Amino acid sequence: MCGIVCYVGNNRAEPILIEGLKRLEYRGYDSSGLAVQDGSHIDHIRAVGKIVELEKAINGIDIKGTSGIAHTRWATHGEPTEHNAHPHSDEKGNVFIIHNGIIENYQSIKTRLEKKGVKFRSETDTEVLAHLIAQYFEGDLKEAVRKTMSQVEGTFGIAVIHRDLPGQIVVARRGSPLIIGVGEDGNFAASDVSAMVRYTKKVLHLNDNELAVITADGISIFTAQAKAVTRDAETVEWSAEDVDLDGFPHFMLKEIFEQPDTIRNAMRGRVDKGEGVPKLGGIMPVWDDLKECRHIVIVACGTSYYAGCVASYIFEKLTEIDVEVEVASEFRYRKLNFPPNTFIIAMSQSGETADTLSAIREARRKGARLLGIVNVVGSSISRETEAGIYNHAGPEIGVASTKIFISQLTILTLLALLLGRHHNMSLTDGVEAIRAMEKLPDQVKDILSKSNHIQAIAEKYYKYGNWLFLGRKYGYPIAMEGALKLKEISYIHAEGYAAGEMKHGPIALINPDMPTVAIAPLDSMYEKMINNIQEIKSRKGPVIAIVTEGDTMIKEIADDVIEIPPTLDFLYPILTVVPCQLLAYYCAQFLKRDIDKPRNLAKSVTVE
Ligand code: M6R
Repeated sequence: MCGIVCYVGNNRAEPILIEGLKRLEYRGYDSSGLAVQDGSHIDHIRAVGKIVELEKAINGIDIKGTSGIAHTRWATHGEPTEHNAHPHSDEKGNVFIIHNGIIENYQSIKTRLEKKGVKFRSETDTEVLAHLIAQYFEGDLKEAVRKTMSQVEGTFGIAVIHRDLPGQIVVARRGSPLIIGVGEDGNFAASDVSAMVRYTKKVLHLNDNELAVITADGISIFTAQAKAVTRDAETVEWSAEDVDLDGFPHFMLKEIFEQPDTIRNAMRGRVDKGEGVPKLGGIMPVWDDLKECRHIVIVACGTSYYAGCVASYIFEKLTEIDVEVEVASEFRYRKLNFPPNTFIIAMSQSGETADTLSAIREARRKGARLLGIVNVVGSSISRETEAGIYNHAGPEIGVASTKIFISQLTILTLLALLLGRHHNMSLTDGVEAIRAMEKLPDQVKDILSKSNHIQAIAEKYYKYGNWLFLGRKYGYPIAMEGALKLKEISYIHAEGYAAGEMKHGPIALINPDMPTVAIAPLDSMYEKMINNIQEIKSRKGPVIAIVTEGDTMIKEIADDVIEIPPTLDFLYPILTVVPCQLLAYYCAQFLKRDIDKPRNLAKSVTVE
């Protein structure tokens, strides 16, 4: 979705802004632009397409200014054209603004302004903000922004400059992320830490309805009532290397190969081997109630939702808690009747997914307790939940989520173990589970060492236009996640199904042109999966089976097999998903897709 990056300091702003925009490319966008201020002169340049188009438009212009705002736009109101790209300005070209989010009452504001004679030059909702700020401006940009904020409904992260106030950027947020970076040689603001981590790791998080005035040597934060706020800077864990490809052709592949470390990072300092009990400091503020809770609802979207689906089986096995999993965009519209002491777990890599945020806000209204499992420290979900657990997985840049899925499964398993040990799980079982979890990083590494084999399988099948993924119990959400991975980056149509459902419909599709990926490790569903594979083979459907090392029965019937090491049944998803990720990756590579930035998708979906 849209991205914001701003700089004000002692260096030329343009290269810093362009570098920041490139770091935001992974979020998905269709046009970009910047406004750089040098005294009362403002260079305002926009372009449709990739950042390279903006660079071409800038080529030959000597942009000297040391403060500026820049934006990548993902069209919501109005087509991706140059005149709809941000920054937008008022009629006189005094105010320049970039905006993430949606102004819900823009139409009524626009009509009001048009009646006063204001001429609009774009179809965007954002442009109303530029005109309102210009109208309210009486020498104090912060005040003009503050008054504008009181007029608008919807969500926004904005950054604004004014021709009369060089060296000053005003930023504000409501519902959309906006982080301020405290630099040595100037200050920054961005919608995403990755845009500025090359320059600073010291950040200040803005709360909803706050605004800030940023200059080269100062940052002042204010409430919507203009009250000054004091806030300490936090240090982000991410490094500049985290946002580099490090020799990999794509971030997705880099992140798949990082997964052994992702598991280690999710477990680091969080297990007591001797007692077989995880230690999760982040949930201690609610522990007294959580340990008594018997009903949990996990709300999430996309890949995070599928991790929640796996967790429901794990909780069922290890604890006495009933777990429901809800797609966040549906949850919000349900009539909710929670038993007392129900906990909602919002799970999100970005911590900014609009549907998940809306779901927890609705749950809070209904009196539920809120936990978060998020990767981005300081993100909206982490701030709007009572307590939670961070993934500590570093930035995930590839639009297709991979390492975070594995991290979420690791953390949810630790949480289930912690609660299970508090319920009736034995010491022996707890110790056995933690021992098996500690082997997972090396086991994932072992699967990754077979990537050439998986690549060869992808080469054999990548031209097939329709795929089926089948699994049972723990394997069912992996089938859905495998299908999602394949469709989102290769654009091959794929469906994930509970294998038992095959005979209730999808079996009609089976023919020699439709490959099936069967998630068939040696767990309690193994025999049933063999039956499904037989049914497919009798109809001449090609089968790629993901099996446990040493399996001989499936090897005889499947066309291709990918072996994974043995583990406990509830830990298999952490292993079975890896071949699915690699299959999707290599199919997309053979099809020459834009793997890290698949069409129409955005990394962080900040609109409902
Ligand atoms: O940041 P979140 O985990 O809340 O994102 C949820 C989904 O948008 C995300 O998992 C999406 O489905 C990915 N493209 C999947 O690869």
